[in-house]
Amino acid sequence: MANSLDSTARDILRHNDKGGYTIPTTGLYPYQWNWDSAFAAFGFAQFDIDRAWTELDTLFSGQWQNGMVPHILFHTVDPGYFPGPEVWGGTGPIASSGISQPPIAATMAKLVYDKNPETGATRMAPLFDKMAAWHRWFMDWRLDNNAVCITHPWEAGRDNAPDWDEAMAGIDPADVGEYTRRDTAHVDSSMRPKKYDYDRYVWLVQLGNKLKWDQAALLQQNPFRVADPTMTFTLLRAQRDLAALGRAIGRDVTAIEADIATLEKGVESLWNTDLGAFDSRNAKTGNWANSISNASFLCWYAGVQAPQMKTVLRDVMSEVSYGIPSYDPRGAQFDGKRYWRGPVWAIMNMLISLGMHESGMAEGEALRQSTCKLITEHGFAEYFDPRDGSPAGGQSFTWTAAVWLGWASPTADLF
Ligand code: SER
Repeated sequence: MANSLDSTARDILRHNDKGGYTIPTTGLYPYQWNWDSAFAAFGFAQFDIDRAWTELDTLFSGQWQNGMVPHILFHTVDPGYFPGPEVWGGTGPIASSGISQPPIAATMAKLVYDKNPETGATRMAPLFDKMAAWHRWFMDWRLDNNAVCITHPWEAGRDNAPDWDEAMAGIDPADVGEYTRRDTAHVDSSMRPKKYDYDRYVWLVQLGNKLKWDQAALLQQNPFRVADPTMTFTLLRAQRDLAALGRAIGRDVTAIEADIATLEKGVESLWNTDLGAFDSRNAKTGNWANSISNASFLCWYAGVQAPQMKTVLRDVMSEVSYGIPSYDPRGAQFDGKRYWRGPVWAIMNMLISLGMHESGMAEGEALRQSTCKLITEHGFAEYFDPRDGSPAGGQSFTWTAAVWLGWASPTADLF
């Protein structure tokens, strides 16, 4: 069974491979997405190291002059997706969106490197400065109390998480104009963000395009700015991994080490004492989201020891049958099928589990086994209902296949 699922997972990666880059899934997401692509590299590394490095090369070929690496690269136009390149008006070397996504590329590069350090040293050499410049861009433009902010819900990857509800309510999208969503032509609308959310998503894209994605102007004029555990924990981890890669290939990592110390302080600023958990904070108002999300549990992945989070973890896990839900099932906003308001995501489980394992927590292996069961029983879906495991969103999904091959499968060797 495991071997046949391994073979299905490899077929999904090959099928979604469009030549140097991998799409998340046909139809719903027909372009190269940033963190999807980093997971794809990790998946390819289980059977084709060179193809893994090529995925990262292609991702960084879209890097902007200011260091930003876009969340979508529009290599070829596909009318089945909205908003496309003309709505974004990206200003980089190839058509792209104007925002970024959780920086996991350096972490995935480290995992790919570890598979074959000799090839890794050669392939990492030209990527090192590019990754360092991307991380610098976050440090220069996105910090609030040393935690990393998002400027659009799509930037966190957790599009419709309750974490952004207050900041989203502060946007008046009256002048957004007419547009046609494409996502609900591919996936049932009960599994996707609502029109309320989309009006604001599109409005924020229009604002960025109007300001030509000038970061200084956006800092002044964008009403949406939320300090986010996804970004803060993934960047802290990515800086640690980039520093390790830099040392391995003989590069100066002094500046990265200073950034790590800054981000460690940023993590402390995301601790919501009343909630007793890591939380998102609206940087415009200072208000907490009061959201226990799967991003709250990325602390261990970032090398942050947080004993209180173990209690929160037990409480949340006792409510569901599979993995870690994207939002606390005890919360009023919980919706088990609606994207980031409840469903369980295999990729988040892998990052959290890796952190737990590295912190000596037995929960890391338990989470791996739970995700193995989930995918074995319910397939390679984009996400799943955490109560009964029913598949949701897109199917034949690249990142679910990738984390199966490298982590969840009984044949995987991540730990
Ligand atoms: N996740 C967004 C979408 O659903 C874009 O990144 O299209």
